[in-house]
Parts: sequence; structure tokens; C-alpha cells
Amino acid sequence: MDRIVVTGNGPLSGQIPIAGAKNACLTLMPATLLSDEPLTLTNAPRLSDIRTMTTLLQSLGAEVSALNDGRVLALSSHGLDNHTADYDIVRKMRASILVLGPMLAREGHAVVSLPGGCAIGARPVDLHLKALEAMGAELDLREGYVHARAPSGLKGAIVDFPMVSVGATENALMAATLAKGTTVLKNAAREPEIVDLARCLRAMGAAIEGEGTGEITIEGVDRLHGATHPVVIDRIELGTYMLAPAIAGGSVELLGGQMSLIGAFVEKLEEAGVSVSETQAGLRVERKNGRVKAVDVATAPFPGFPTDLQAQMMALLCFADGVSVLEERIFENRFMHAPELMRMGARIDVHGGTAKVTGVETLKGAPVMATDLRASVSLILAGLAAKGETVVNRVYHLDRGYERVEEKLSAVGAKIERVQGDD
Ligand code: EPZ
Repeated sequence: MDRIVVTGNGPLSGQIPIAGAKNACLTLMPATLLSDEPLTLTNAPRLSDIRTMTTLLQSLGAEVSALNDGRVLALSSHGLDNHTADYDIVRKMRASILVLGPMLAREGHAVVSLPGGCAIGARPVDLHLKALEAMGAELDLREGYVHARAPSGLKGAIVDFPMVSVGATENALMAATLAKGTTVLKNAAREPEIVDLARCLRAMGAAIEGEGTGEITIEGVDRLHGATHPVVIDRIELGTYMLAPAIAGGSVELLGGQMSLIGAFVEKLEEAGVSVSETQAGLRVERKNGRVKAVDVATAPFPGFPTDLQAQMMALLCFADGVSVLEERIFENRFMHAPELMRMGARIDVHGGTAKVTGVETLKGAPVMATDLRASVSLILAGLAAKGETVVNRVYHLDRGYERVEEKLSAVGAKIERVQGDD
């Protein structure tokens, strides 16, 4: 398995381009199942998760081709010949559950493996299933698969989510576009990826209002047509790379960065003493000498502080002057980066969903282990400012969500390289 070797190398300078959003693309791609006309996605990120979703859609009989070196995805599903999403693919990527809503809405039946848990938590899909049942789906859970049927089609319904769920909102939103009548999603997720999905569905002919607020109203239509849609930029990749100059010092411009996508995160960065400014081409982040200040962080659904930036923010706070408290309120087990950061000398006390970080002047490079996508990149960020060499193993987690991380960071002066694994 490949590993990444980072050596602390002083302040950074230059530009980092931000790619299209993984978590937008993973819900935009299944939208092709709603129409028999072609869907083209531009500004697509080149990630292993995208390749996994491609394999899944192809296994259902959809055509998916990656053009322009993977930056454009041409999808079409006029000839679905299989309605079962197999456990072998679904277990590798939980977002596979997002084929359930669209396939059921258009085809009237779907069999999708339950995704199972993952490193950061049990991650049930009960809210996805309850929403589809409210819209008239008959669901049967057998041998780890959801067997869903809607022989006379789905019907509009009022779906009141007991808790905010990004994926359940996306599944219900896609299904509702072809349901008979009006659907109202209450306590819906407000993430930019939901707004991006609604924009794409509207371009395909869907009647949707309210995306980005907690209440989305969808008037079902008989069919959707094809469209071409640009994937919104990745706010989590953006936030991740904004932390590189915050941790290592220096000044870096993030090309394509938009303040509106990461308001709560920018507020915390500025509270810690990092400067963020808008430029013609995106956002500039600067940290002159002197340690950042300790800040308290609690994760929340958008527009709150993103859980997907919690691990990366912890890496910054390991160097802060003072004690910070991080509360992870979305997932039950998302501090697995903490013991790895402690191997580098960080002082972190974890109790349940709360981590207390006592900042130290320096960390020391060490061999560390990646456990999930965002934890792995937080170890690389810490390595940028640690003394000596940090070796991050199991980087296949990283490649799920970050395109060519070593190239993007080397381009701004980081000493980082990928070493081919011999095992
Ligand atoms: C999406 O996951 C993202 N993944 C996650 O990003 C992100 O962390 C998460 O939203 C929260 O923002 C994709 O978009 C592909 P949820 P999702 O449903 O949809 C519980 C990354 O690193 N829940 O909003 O699975 C769930 O257990 C990944 O890119 C239920 O109880 O997240 C969690 O505690 C990690 N029942 C909370 O809700 C359900 O039916 C939020 O989950 C669904 C969710």
C-alpha cells in the first residue's frame, strides 16, 4: 500500500486549485437514473469514490464515460438491465445507497444492499427508508438488502425528518421529482451539495423550491430530460487546504474558493488569528509568525461547522497557544485521528464526543496510520509543521476524497512525496 511522507519544511506560498465536490458528484451521478436522456457533469473530481460510483451505475446497465481526463462525466441510463446494487460495491462506499431513490422512482423497483457501518459510526439508513415509505414505497429488508417496490409509482408526501440527514434528503429529493403530486421535505439538510443537486434536477425539468432552506417543496413531473451541469466546488477540500498555510505559515491562494460555502469554518479560522481574504480568483489564507490562538469548535449541519473539517481543524489546534475544546456532534466515533496525532506529541484528551486539545509549540514527525478519509488528511496537515518526517500509511483512504494531494501541496512548497507500497 502506498504511503505519503511529509517533512516539516517551513511556510508555504503559491496557489492551490480546488476541484469539484466529491459529495456533490456522488449524488449528481445517480440522478442519471431518473431520465432516459444523457446527463453530462463538468468540473468532476478525479477520485476513487467517483470510479466506484461509475462501476455501480455501470453494473445497473447505465453508461458512464469519463472524458477530458476524468473532468467530464457523460452518463445515460436509457437501458437499465439490472436493478440490484450489489453488496460488494455498496460496502466499499456508503453513498451507493443514493441509487435507491432515483431507481425506485423511475423503474418502480430496486434492490440495494444495506451499506453497513464504517469507521466513523454505525451510519444507519433508516431515515432514507422512512422517507421513501412515506412516498408509498413497499420496503422489505432481506439478507442485508432493501427490496423496494412502488408498482403504481411513488406519490407526493410530507416528510418530516426527525434529524438532519444529507443522504436521506438527497434520496428523497431525487425520488420526489417523479412522484405523483407534491412532496414537502421538512428539517431537510441545507448543505451546498443539496443546493447543487436541486439545481441539476431543475435543469433536468424538475419542479423544486426551497433548496438550501430547511424546507424543500417538489412538484412531481412525468419525466425528466437530459442536462449538462457543473459540479459545485468542494468546500471540504477548500477548507482542508486553507489549513495548510494556517498550520505551516505563509500565504496561499485557493483558486475557486467561495466564502459562502464555508462561513462557519472561516469564522473559526479568523478567531484563531488566521487571516482569510477574497481575491479575484478565490480566497487567500495567511498566517504570519506567532502561534494561532486556541478556539472551541462544535460540529453541526450546514451552515454550522462541518464535521468533515473537524479532524483537519484539530491538527491546527494541536499547535495553538492554549486549550481548545472540539465537540463532534454528528458522528459517534470521529476522533480516530487523535491517537495518531498524539503519536506526534499532541496533547489531546478524548471523552465521548468531546476532545480537549492543549496546544504545544511543536510536534515531532512519526509513522502514523490513516483510518478514514478526513483523519488521513489531518495527519498530513500536522506533518507540514512537525519537526522531521511523518509517514502516513494506508493512503487509499486519502485517494477517495483528495485528488493528487502530494502534487497540490508540493506546488506551494511542502516537502511531501508518495512512496509506492511494496505490500
Ligand atoms: C454525508 O454523509 C457525507 N457523505 C459525509 O461526508 C458527511 O460527513 C455527512 O453527510 C454529514 O455532513 C456524502 O455526502 C457522500 P448524514 P451522510 O445522513 O449522508 C445519522 C466525507 O468524509 N443518520 O447527514 O451519510 C448518521 O449516522 C463523508 O466526505 C441516521 O441516523 O450523513 C449521522 O450520525 C463522511 N439515519 C447523522 O445522521 C439515517 O438514515 C448525519 O448523517 C441517516 C443518517
